[in-house]
Amino acid sequence: MVINRFQFLRVVFLLVLCAGVSLINVKGPVFHNVTWKQSNNPYNVVGDFQIPIGVTLTIKAGTRVVFNMDFRLLIVGKLKIEGSLKNPVKFFGNVTNGGPMIVFQSTNLSESSISYCNFYGPKPALQINQGDPATGTLNANFIFINNSAISNYYGGQSSIAISVNNSVLLQSDVTRGLILITNSDITSSTIDQNAICNLTNCKIKSSTISNGYSGFNEASTVIWKSILTQCTVNVQQNTIVIEESNLTDVFVGGDGAFILRKSSANGLTISFAWSHVELTSCKIINKKNETMVMGWVNVSCCDIQGNKQNTGIIVNGLLFNLDDTQTIVNSSFYNFAIGIQVSASEGPITIANNNLYQNSKYNLYNKYGYNIVATNNWWGTSNPNKIKKKIYDYYEDILTGKVLFNPFLQNKNPNVKCLQ
Ligand SMILES: *[C@@H]1O[C@H](CO)[C@@H](O)[C@H](O)[C@H]1NC(C)=O
Ligand SMILES: *[C@@H]1O[C@H](CO)[C@@H](O)[C@H](O)[C@H]1NC(C)=O
Ligand SMILES: *[C@@H]1O[C@H](CO)[C@@H](O)[C@H](O)[C@H]1NC(C)=O
Ligand SMILES: *[C@@H]1O[C@H](CO)[C@@H](O)[C@H](O)[C@H]1NC(C)=O
Ligand SMILES: *[C@@H]1O[C@H](CO)[C@@H](O)[C@H](O)[C@H]1NC(C)=O
Ligand SMILES: *[C@@H]1O[C@H](CO)[C@@H](O)[C@H](O)[C@H]1NC(C)=O
Ligand SMILES: *[C@@H]1O[C@H](CO)[C@@H](O)[C@H](O)[C@H]1NC(C)=O
Ligand SMILES: *[C@@H]1O[C@H](CO)[C@@H](O)[C@H](O)[C@H]1NC(C)=O
Ligand SMILES: *[C@@H]1O[C@H](CO)[C@@H](O)[C@H](O)[C@H]1NC(C)=O
Ligand SMILES: *[C@@H]1O[C@H](CO)[C@@H](O)[C@H](O)[C@H]1NC(C)=O
Repeated sequence: MVINRFQFLRVVFLLVLCAGVSLINVKGPVFHNVTWKQSNNPYNVVGDFQIPIGVTLTIKAGTRVVFNMDFRLLIVGKLKIEGSLKNPVKFFGNVTNGGPMIVFQSTNLSESSISYCNFYGPKPALQINQGDPATGTLNANFIFINNSAISNYYGGQSSIAISVNNSVLLQSDVTRGLILITNSDITSSTIDQNAICNLTNCKIKSSTISNGYSGFNEASTVIWKSILTQCTVNVQQNTIVIEESNLTDVFVGGDGAFILRKSSANGLTISFAWSHVELTSCKIINKKNETMVMGWVNVSCCDIQGNKQNTGIIVNGLLFNLDDTQTIVNSSFYNFAIGIQVSASEGPITIANNNLYQNSKYNLYNKYGYNIVATNNWWGTSNPNKIKKKIYDYYEDILTGKVLFNPFLQNKNPNVKCLQ
């Protein structure tokens, strides 16, 4: 049978329809500049697609890149993803337990860029590889990552390797390295303990932010000018710092250190039996019976209120360094059952210039065997007998120390300046 050109084209067309795949299968190293565009959609990655040094892969708006098998784009040269708001580039990585869709290695990351690109997992989206160190910063702007991951294995560097801006992370993980995320929404996602992130101007919801061993000494994850809702902050090691942010229903736990400055919180639980907590210039409302337990305390200029049944803070006083001094100063604790409870302390603790008042059981509860100096505080009254009634100490149980509260303030400390 002789097939004419029309019939031949129809057969090809039907084959394409039946298979549901295009004829653009890509793989292997390419040694010339390549541009992928929408008119050839989709691009099926059927082998490692490698871009060597000196070569650029440009992916234009509307292009779809499909990984049905566990291959990747390996970028040693340059990658330019140039989607648009109306017509983003889309990567589909429907491969479970696979390696990343795009891997950068031994390259100057500043020469690549990603703009308006959606990544659908579960295959991880982006990774900076170890090996010959990459340099520079990869700018990823207006990306959307769903059910996928970003990872930076390019160890030892002190600068940000991936800068994610104006983006959305949904059900995704940031698994490693130094990563900057700005102006982005992070929902139902995880910042892993090996990732050291700077999250600035982000809306973070139902997510977990961890910090741990990273290879960088004392490295901290920083959250700045952000909104955290229903999040878990898990500081396994080192420090997580949150500044100028608003928190709702946040749980902080772990063995590292936690710093909250110039922030406000509505529902903050701290479960930090052994560790350092600094709260500076914060307004904290714990009306859902939350409490804040910490091993070492540094609270200044905070306004902290409860629901009349809970305890404001419980200090366990377990110090890493006996020279560390613990302080609670210039702060207000009110509307709790117990304002401040000191359960243990291995070093001196200073409680001064605070307003400790309107707490239903005790303004200060000394639960351990040493005296506490708590002078120059306002206790809601200038009657020493009434002050004593709201202090639990030696006079309630001779096994505990005394609270030395004299002299005390005659008026509420007006110097408590909360939230700057
Ligand atoms: C790719 O294009 C760039 C300029 O955009 C050029 O410098 C480079 O030599 C080209 N590479 C190849 C392999 O043609
Ligand atoms: C992903 O792949 C699985 C089989 O591996 C398939 O059942 C599923 O429909 C695919 N999902 C999408 C969105 O393509
Ligand atoms: C990396 O590329 C950027 C932008 O082209 C350039 O400014 C920088 O000098 C490059 N860095 C190195 C180490 O080549
Ligand atoms: C994100 O991915 C999940 C499954 O992986 C899917 O059910 C959901 O519709 C996706 N959401 C968006 C906004 O793409
Ligand atoms: C993020 O994008 C905005 C513009 O949308 C720009 O002003 C800002 O400098 C970018 N930030 C970073 C860290 O790239
Ligand atoms: C976090 O990133 C923002 C935006 O780039 C920057 O202004 C700020 O200094 C960074 N913070 C830290 C602690 O590096
Ligand atoms: C936090 O809330 C205060 C008061 O509502 C507001 O002025 C501030 O802009 C908020 N901060 C952020 C990062 O949303
Ligand atoms: C307590 O926090 C304040 C504010 O950051 C800081 O200046 C001070 O050094 C801290 N005190 C101790 C003992 O670390
Ligand atoms: C609130 O917490 C206190 C302990 O801090 C507990 O005794 C009390 O039963 C709790 N109340 C509710 C309603 O959970
Ligand atoms: C407490 O407030 C007083 C008076 O405003 C101020 O001099 C002092 O520096 C404050 N101390 C701390 C640790 O904030």
